Amino acid sequence: MSENKVKITVKGKTIELPIRSGTIGPDVTEISTLYKKTGIFTYDPGFISTASCESRTTYIDGDKGILLYRGYPINEVAENGDFLEVCYLLLHGELPTQVQKKDFDYRVQHHHMVHEQFSRFFHVFRRDSHPMAVMIACLGAMSAFYHDSIDITNPHQRMLASLRLIAKMPTLAAMSYKYSIGQPFVYPLNSLGYAENFLHMCFSIPCVEYKVNPILARAMDKIFILHADHEQNASTSTVRLAGSSGANPFACIAAGIACLWGPAHGGANEACLKMFEQIGSVKRIPEFIARAKDKDDSFRLMGFGHRIYKNYDPRAYIMQQTCHEVLNELGIKDDPLLDIAIELEQIALHDKYFIEKKLYPNIDFYSGIILKALGFPTSMFTVIFALARSVGWVAQWKEMVEDPAQKIGRPRQLYTGEVKRTYVSIKKRK
Ligand code: CMC
Repeated sequence: MSENKVKITVKGKTIELPIRSGTIGPDVTEISTLYKKTGIFTYDPGFISTASCESRTTYIDGDKGILLYRGYPINEVAENGDFLEVCYLLLHGELPTQVQKKDFDYRVQHHHMVHEQFSRFFHVFRRDSHPMAVMIACLGAMSAFYHDSIDITNPHQRMLASLRLIAKMPTLAAMSYKYSIGQPFVYPLNSLGYAENFLHMCFSIPCVEYKVNPILARAMDKIFILHADHEQNASTSTVRLAGSSGANPFACIAAGIACLWGPAHGGANEACLKMFEQIGSVKRIPEFIARAKDKDDSFRLMGFGHRIYKNYDPRAYIMQQTCHEVLNELGIKDDPLLDIAIELEQIALHDKYFIEKKLYPNIDFYSGIILKALGFPTSMFTVIFALARSVGWVAQWKEMVEDPAQKIGRPRQLYTGEVKRTYVSIKKRK
């Protein structure tokens, strides 16, 4: 490798590929001309060594356990800001002034309601449908309900679609929950903050007055902040790939939600809580640790490990602290699931297998315990993740659409199937 180039020799022919540097993080070598110049592709399943795009939104240093939103460390943002401030930051690239924040909050609040026909849309689903299945459909339907904001070439419509998405996700998420438990939908209240409003729409019922506890609302807001964006993860990359064809933002976010649902991604918080319940008691932890280490057992410790973080996930620290605050506020002194989580974490952090493979608790390790304490069933955990991540998805989608160098995403493959063969008629097949 020369100083600013990567040299590659294919069948005796050497070419040089440029190296590009970002503001921080590893350099990249640009390979877009490789096929044209040498006739070969690169092969990188899982994108282990591949940067799929250029972005200014979020930065992660997985070895140091650093996460920055537009340059601001996640702990500073979570301690000092609120979720709508983070939304503004991710969308606009800068923290808002007081005037800008007031205006942004007002605009989001005034988009909280969804079209009244949406309530009828819910009724086509089985009453016990998983809320994630319903959410995927809701996002698809948004492009039908709000088709005056799907012209992606119009900057005003792009921003309107972004605001609608941030504003309506809590309403739709709460509706999908209410529908799954057979309770009436609750309209949003503009006098409440974003997280307060979500708790109100989820937990108030017409026959009892519901007062939102500010400590629990703050915990909810922190959960939203911590999930708001996470660089080019699977669901964000799905949103970008869907958007690269020119698809409208609501359809792209529907694709992102579908991807998020998997247990290796956003579904891990649900899987993690189920795992704590399956372990059942601190005494059984060694049995599950042994299973996690056993090559012949497919069991994995949910809420542990991360493709990028090879150190403690910085979000997990804040989650752990928030978890204690919530349980304390609710007067939950002895939560057996928390006991299992704390003990499991301690054992895994000192176990050779987990140390050598650099497996640390991730964001999902404690979030399920908090959400359960707040009153959410496990089926809502990934919905809440999707609600919060929508801002990251739409910010990254906007960034991509506004990039003049943007092209449709079209990966290539290493074909290992049959080579050309002659069609045999069904009568002659043996
Ligand atoms: N428990 C036990 N062993 C594990 C675990 C785990 N949770 N995670 C990874 N390993 C082992 C794995 O078996 C492999 O061992 P070996 O090198 O001997 O084959 C090694 O560690 C590397 O694992 P990998 O699967 O190659 O790593 P990856 O980067 O492809 O996977 C991951 C990352 C998050 C999918 C994985 O760690 C995992 O399945 N964790 C549990 C699910 C989870 O908590 N997911 C939430 C991720 S954070 C939220 C989000 O971003 O959505």
